[in-house]
Amino acid sequence: MPTQAAGIIGTGRALPERVLTNAELEKLVDTSDDWIVSRTGIRERRVAAPDETTSHFAALAAQRALDAAGVSPRELDLVICATVCPDMMLPSTACLVQSKLGAKRAAAYDLVAACSGFVYGLATARAFIEAGHARYILVIGAELLSRFVDYTDRATCVIFGDGAGAAVVGPVAAGRGILAHRILSDGDYAELLYTPGGGARHPASAATVQQRLHYIKMRGNELFKVAVRSMAETVGQVLDELRLAPSDVDLFVPHQANQRITDAVADRLGIGSERIYANIERMGNTSSASIPIALDECVAAGRIKSGDLLVFASFGAGVTWGALALRW
Ligand code: UT7
Repeated sequence: MPTQAAGIIGTGRALPERVLTNAELEKLVDTSDDWIVSRTGIRERRVAAPDETTSHFAALAAQRALDAAGVSPRELDLVICATVCPDMMLPSTACLVQSKLGAKRAAAYDLVAACSGFVYGLATARAFIEAGHARYILVIGAELLSRFVDYTDRATCVIFGDGAGAAVVGPVAAGRGILAHRILSDGDYAELLYTPGGGARHPASAATVQQRLHYIKMRGNELFKVAVRSMAETVGQVLDELRLAPSDVDLFVPHQANQRITDAVADRLGIGSERIYANIERMGNTSSASIPIALDECVAAGRIKSGDLLVFASFGAGVTWGALALRW
C-alpha cells in the first residue's frame, strides 16, 4: 500500500464549437457517410477555428477541472500536457497553459505518447503523488489534430477531431483512486502512424511541404490489429494485478479510436456495452483528449458513483498503449 493514494478529484473538457459532419467530408474526399459510420462509428467531429490554439482549449479544460476539484492554480505542483499538436515546437504547450492558469508554483512539461498520453500522464501523476513529490497535478489531453490532418487523404481525415480534457490528480483516501496501471510501448511500429516532417530528421523546407510530410500518415488496418490485441491484454494484466475480473468493472472508458476497436476489445474481455462509454459518434478520435473528454461527460451525466471501479485503456502512435484502473 502506498503511503498516499492518488486519485482524480476533478475533471473538465473544452471543445471547439464548429462541427464537421460526414456529409461535409463527402465533398472533400472520395468517401461516404455509410463507409465512415460502418467502419469507424463516427458521424461528426469538432474542428477548431483558425485563431484557436491547443493551449486555449487545454487551459479552458484545465480551469474547469480545477474548479470541479476546488483546487486553485497556485496549489498545483505540476502541469502535464499530453499532446501531439503543440502550439509550437518550443516551448512546451504545458508552459503556455501554466501561464494562462497562473500556476505559479508548478513545473510544466508536455508528454508525447499520442493517444496514450492521458493514461501515461495519470501514471506519472500517480507516481509523483504516491512518492510524496507532489500534492496536486493537472493532467491534460489536448489536441488540434485538424491542423495536422491531410484533408485530401480519406484514410485519416475522416477519423480525427479536436478537443481537450483535463483531470486534477490529488490525494485520496487509501483504497480509492488509482489502484493499478500498466504503460507500454513498441517503437518497431513507429511508422504505422507518424508525421515525418518538421523534426530534426526532415526539417521544414519547401520540399517537405510539397511532399506533404507535415501531415499525419497512418496504416490504419495494421494498427487496428495491434490496438485490439494490446488493449485487451493490458486491461487483463491490470485486473489480474488487482485480483479482479472484467465482471468487476463498473465503467470501461477506452480511447475512442474506432467503435470497432472498442467493440472488439470489450468482446475479448467480456464487458457488455452497458458498461462501456463511447462518444466517438460525436467526437471522432481526439487522441490524448479522448479519455478525459469521455470521463468528464460521464461525470456530468452522473454516470459514475462513489466506489465504482473504472478502467481506462489506450493505444496510439509510437506505438504506445496502457491501461489503468481506479476506484472512484
Ligand atoms: O488512435 C489510435 C491509433 N489509430 C488507430 O488505432 C486507427 C486504427 N484503424 C482504424 O480505425 C481503421 O483501420 C480505419 C478506420 C482507419 C480503416 O478501416 P479499415 O476497415 O481497416 O479499412 P482499410 O484501411 O482496410 O481499407 C479498406 C478499403 C480500402 O479500399 P480497397 O483497397 O479495399 O479498395 C481503402 O482505400 O476502404 C478504403 N477506404 C475508404 N473508403 C471510403 C479507406 N478510407 C476510406 C474512406 N472512405 N474514408
